[in-house]
Amino acid sequence: MCGCKSRLALLAVFSLAAASAQTYVWNLPKGFPKPRVPLDNPMTAAKVELGRHLFYDTRMSVNGKQACATCHKQELAFTDGRPVAVGATGEKHPRGSMSLVNIAYSSVLTWSNPGLKELEQQALVPMFGEHPVELGLRQGDAFLPTLRSDAKYKELFADAFPEEADRFTIANVTKAIACFERTIISARSPYDRYHYAEDDNAVSEAAKRGEILFFSQPLSCFRCHGGFNFSGDPEFHNTGLYNPYSAPNVGIFEFTKDPKDLGKFKAPTLRNITSTAPYMHDGSIATLEDVLDHYAAGGRAGHNNQLKDPLIAGFHLSAADRKDLIEFLKSLSDEAVLHDSRFANPW
Ligand code: HEC
Ligand code: HEC
Repeated sequence: MCGCKSRLALLAVFSLAAASAQTYVWNLPKGFPKPRVPLDNPMTAAKVELGRHLFYDTRMSVNGKQACATCHKQELAFTDGRPVAVGATGEKHPRGSMSLVNIAYSSVLTWSNPGLKELEQQALVPMFGEHPVELGLRQGDAFLPTLRSDAKYKELFADAFPEEADRFTIANVTKAIACFERTIISARSPYDRYHYAEDDNAVSEAAKRGEILFFSQPLSCFRCHGGFNFSGDPEFHNTGLYNPYSAPNVGIFEFTKDPKDLGKFKAPTLRNITSTAPYMHDGSIATLEDVLDHYAAGGRAGHNNQLKDPLIAGFHLSAADRKDLIEFLKSLSDEAVLHDSRFANPW
């Protein structure tokens, strides 16, 4: 007996293990498209796991005080509950932190940077950005050596990047974080059960009436919060929220320098909107009721805002319609994603 059979069996086990590190099964519900993934960073289960550890690791900041998860908390649909974010050194961000649910489908990232399109690239901003400081890391810091000397990371980086001689690089850190972020799929809201799983009882009659309002004139919510994520990218809009000339939040004008872009921001996803208050890029609206007041009034009074989108023209909403619309917005909230152990702190 040569033992070839058992050797073959052993080989099969090894290649299976390798394959599971190399593949990622999306398990998407019916109607959900497969997210676009950059060619140079294919999804693997091992990278996702490494990314999750990094996302929750406060060693990712200059003083050990913050991680991505400090400002993107799972229980708040990956926001932080503050009007504007506060970085590791106490510096205030001019804008509020944004939800990361279904971020894999976003074609443009952050409130007002039309050039920021890949999660791999975006992660560098909180890590190394100086205006404002978020995590406050600096290239050449002790950060990579810290990871290299950690037994857990030795294992995780080896699994995630098995072919690379020097795996502890910033590029690999951002690749792994991006892979983890792409897995945060929200698809189990009452609305999803109603709309995709065809469970007619998943939402109330009020929410169904609210859905019709959302998708009709003159409210026109769907014109800017469209698609299955109820979001507006890659377009940006001026919703008459703000005096568009008030720095630092001048919208995409900051990058395009085109005066008609003043005060234009991304229309974020409305999924899990009940967990992400306060609202808008500057957290200036406290409740969903106040958001509706803002739209009904056709933007904030007193700004004489010539740059406001023509869709923000104001409308009248009866008390009953208002309740229905709020019920619809509530039906977009997915409790499961707030507690799913796959997205939780692994440490
Ligand atoms: C100090 C709080 C803070 C920390 C720490 C932080 N973020 Fe954010 N995040 C924000 C804010 C604020 C925004 C909006 C930024 C803007 O508009 O300029 C944002 C936006 C984002 C977006 C864009 C979301 C969208 O809908 O377009 C992604 C993705 C993101 N952060 C991922 C991360 C990752 C990954 C980390 C860790 C490497 C991280 N963040 C760390 C506050 C933070
Ligand atoms: C002209 C496009 C447009 C229309 C129409 C529109 N929105 Fe928005 N919405 C936006 C933009 C852009 C933002 C972000 C604005 C900002 O922060 O300055 C936003 C923000 C929001 C937010 C806050 C999101 C967050 O995470 O902070 C809610 C809630 C919202 N809209 C609901 C609605 C509802 C309900 C309607 C219909 C009554 C509606 N929107 C109509 C573009 C639009």
